[in-house]
Amino acid sequence: MAYSDKVIDHYSNPRNVGQMDKSSDEVGTGLVGAPECGDVMRLQIRVNPETQVIEDAKFKTFGCGSAIASSSLATEWVKGKTISEALTISNTDIVKELALPPVKIHCSVLAEDAIRAAIGDWKKKNHVAEGAEVAVAAH
Ligand code: FES
Repeated sequence: MAYSDKVIDHYSNPRNVGQMDKSSDEVGTGLVGAPECGDVMRLQIRVNPETQVIEDAKFKTFGCGSAIASSSLATEWVKGKTISEALTISNTDIVKELALPPVKIHCSVLAEDAIRAAIGDWKKKNHVAEGAEVAVAAH
């Protein structure tokens, strides 16, 4: 199976690898695993509590090249978005951008799940109810 140039680029030069302080109220952590293969992804976001804009994102993925590329891309995409904008990112956007073949679709699902889990964690910490997100970024 051939990986696309974009996957190879993100895999060889992943963006935003790292870790944030899980205990901070501004940080949301999503830790998800793919039952298909056992790969694990951790994605973290730092959110401005006033504007709900995601100001920083980091990831660490123990998994295949497509999972690493998907999470690297996800961190790039969520940065600068509000949490409600970030919730509109779907795995099919990632599949398209990285030209993932059908057998690698679950790797992109992992990234979507990780974004949602990180946002869910942040909302829980900050007592933001479902549907009570700020709609648009003030940029
Ligand atoms: Fe499982 Fe890619 S093969 S996440």
